[in-house]
Amino acid sequence: MAKSLFSPEERPQGMSELSWAEHPELVRFYSQHRSRPEDLYPSERRFLPWLARQATSVLDTGCAAGGFIHIWRFYHPNVEYTGIDISSALIETARRLHPNELFFRANVSEVTGLPDRYASVVQALSWLHWDLDYVKAITQLWRLADRYLFMDVRLSARRNFNLRCRQKLAFVGPWDGESMTPYLILGWPPFARLLLGLKPRTILGYGYWGKPAETVVGVDEEICFAVFVLEKIGIGANSRIPTVCVDLPLAWPAALSGNVHLIPGSELKALVPLE
Ligand SMILES: C[S@@+](CC[C@H](N)C(=O)[O-])C[C@H]1O[C@@H](n2cnc3c(N)ncnc32)[C@H](O)[C@@H]1O
Repeated sequence: MAKSLFSPEERPQGMSELSWAEHPELVRFYSQHRSRPEDLYPSERRFLPWLARQATSVLDTGCAAGGFIHIWRFYHPNVEYTGIDISSALIETARRLHPNELFFRANVSEVTGLPDRYASVVQALSWLHWDLDYVKAITQLWRLADRYLFMDVRLSARRNFNLRCRQKLAFVGPWDGESMTPYLILGWPPFARLLLGLKPRTILGYGYWGKPAETVVGVDEEICFAVFVLEKIGIGANSRIPTVCVDLPLAWPAALSGNVHLIPGSELKALVPLE
């Protein structure tokens, strides 16, 4: 693995940009959106109903105002739900909108109060590309998952390095001229190596090319919007070569093919039936 995943001019400057977390625009948007099955992106819809049928509990990290409760319960009415978000404004809103559910305010990378294998599914949607500490975050998400980690990232075809761009915080109203989040586009080979390093039983993926939102600054190429589901080895089971099935416009890196049982992406529908 390269010493730094960022080229010298793209190296992170620290986490001071977390000031975006309390921005009122986030509360305005997430108290109104992302709470119905129709709000799912196709990449999320590819896995969520299938995961929900198997899950007894879900830990929704980066839960915003907790709208995903409705989506998970639509597919599995009894699923236990816990939400975590770094933003106190969003967690207050989530608690107000869903007074009977459990919410914690925390940076996922620093959570120590939750036990290993806390929930059958750990979800991390639409925020790992905002987190410069995504490697630490994914390690923590994996610790908390009992069976599945369900997450999305942005991938670049061309780079072995990550590209660090920025996103203007403007969802509902006009941009205030200064508030921005990071926006990371990850190199696929190093990211695939990171996934393998977690020693999962299975790596499933689905994604497609698309243009980043108009609010993203610093990239002028299509990127791959990719969702991954990693399955953990059961307690007491022997580790073995992971099975990989990724239906992506990017091939599994040849340099990593020797370490996996590779199934063509076209077989994903046999492993994860369409809704
Ligand atoms: C773009 S929103 C996505 C919300 C929701 N998951 C969805 O898919 O609609 C990103 C959310 O992740 C939260 N977030 C970002 N980094 C986080 C971290 N390290 N720990 C916890 N929450 C984080 C933000 O506060 C924000 O609520």
